[in-house]
Amino acid sequence: MLDYQNILEEVAHEIKPYLGEGRVASYIPELANVEPNVFAMSLIDVNGNSFHVGDYQKRFSIQSISKLFTLTMAIQLIDENLWNRIGKEPSGTSFNSLVQLEYENGIPRNPFINAGALVVTDVILSQLQDAHQSVLEFIRTLAQKDDINFDFSVAKSEAQTGFRNHAMANFLKSFKNLEHEPTRVLNAYFHHCSIAMNTQELAKAGLFLANKGVQPSLPVPVLNTRQTKRINALMLTCGTYDSVGDFAYRVGLPAKSGVGGGILATLPGKFSICVWSPRLNEKGNSFAGTKALELFTTKTKLSIF
Ligand code: DON
Repeated sequence: MLDYQNILEEVAHEIKPYLGEGRVASYIPELANVEPNVFAMSLIDVNGNSFHVGDYQKRFSIQSISKLFTLTMAIQLIDENLWNRIGKEPSGTSFNSLVQLEYENGIPRNPFINAGALVVTDVILSQLQDAHQSVLEFIRTLAQKDDINFDFSVAKSEAQTGFRNHAMANFLKSFKNLEHEPTRVLNAYFHHCSIAMNTQELAKAGLFLANKGVQPSLPVPVLNTRQTKRINALMLTCGTYDSVGDFAYRVGLPAKSGVGGGILATLPGKFSICVWSPRLNEKGNSFAGTKALELFTTKTKLSIF
């Protein structure tokens, strides 16, 4: 049995020289208020053992990691029908790119780029009428924490400055790939991105992805085995945007990143692992977080490969 605690501590030590590298996201003004050089990492194995290092109780903006939970809900609600409106190929473009969407007639390449997540949000709205509270409740249930909440100042900040996302939602609507008004979809999407969680909560919320769809604390499976395989496959091929190849090469785990500096990854059958450090590389993934996961999989010799 590997000593995960010891390995996390080694990683936290070796990562220190990298904590000043990269830049905190500032295109959403409110995100720039974070302390830039912090680091946290949490691992929860499928037997429920958990290991933590650094600022693992400090909450941060989960941003695009929310796309993992909204996708899970959409799969629960309409399963394979989702793929009539969204692709499942890596985009090779930045997460907020508009170019491809025009060539491809308003069908987003995958559910993890912003355009894809907007369509996923639209699906949730159609099925549940509410996409704010239902997503929040779902995340609270997965993490087993009732006080997880939106950060309304982050949501507002993005609503005021997210001109690209506004353009994208209107563009999707022009291709008839949104059923609801763009402003309604955007409002829900910005709130999902603003949810604040720590690495401990995120690792727990993602545990079902490492455990064939079962969150051990819940009475019913979150997803079935087939659906869980598919989400992990999408994480591996699309979860870290246009650096997904480099990420798979270095880390070798399915993962989903967010511009708040969090990355949630899984090793199916073994554990979920979450890392946070707010400074990002040029592709929008946590600089030290990616390095920490690379160190972790190298030291433990654990990856999907
Ligand atoms: O829509 C946006 O731009 C942000 N709310 C989320 C982007 C994000 O986290 C992409 N991550 N790497």
